[in-house]
Amino acid sequence: MKSAKKNKILVIHGPNLHLLGKREPDIYGKFTLSDIDKELKVLAKKDNLLLQTFQSNSEGDIVEKITKASYDFLIINPAAYTHTSVAIRDSLLGIKKPTIEVHLSNIYKREEFRKTSLISDVAIGVISGFGKLSYFLALQAASRYLLNEK
Ligand code: DQA
Repeated sequence: MKSAKKNKILVIHGPNLHLLGKREPDIYGKFTLSDIDKELKVLAKKDNLLLQTFQSNSEGDIVEKITKASYDFLIINPAAYTHTSVAIRDSLLGIKKPTIEVHLSNIYKREEFRKTSLISDVAIGVISGFGKLSYFLALQAASRYLLNEK
C-alpha cells in the first residue's frame, strides 16, 4: 500500500533572528535559532510532517522563498518586516497558502510601532509572546489545520 503524502511546512525567520541567544536576551531569550529549528524538526517528525526552515535578513530573499518554494503551510516570523513590508504582505496574498504569523515577544506589549502588523490580516492567526513556544504552538496548529483539511 502506498503511504500518504507528507505535508510540507516551511518556517521562515526574518531579519536579526540569526542573533538569537545574543540579541536582547531579556526580550527574546537565551536560546539560539538552531535550538528552535532542532526542536521544530523533532516535533514535525512526530506529526509525520516534512519541515524546512529558512532565515534571511533580506526582504527580497524572503519574498523569493515565499513565492517559489514548495510547501503546504507557512509559519513565518517576519521580525522587523512585520511592521514595514508591503512586499512580504503582497507575496502572501499572491500565493494564498495557509499561514501563521509568529513572534517570540508580545508585540502588543512593546513600542507603539510594533503594534502594527502588515501580515496579521492575511494570516490565519497570530501567536505572539510565548518565546520559542510560539513556534511550537504554531506547528501544532498547522498540523491540526492540515489534518482537518483532509
Ligand atoms: C519579533 C518582534 C519584532 O517587532 C522584532 O522586530 C523582531 C522579533 C519577535 O519575534 O518578537 O525582530 O518578530
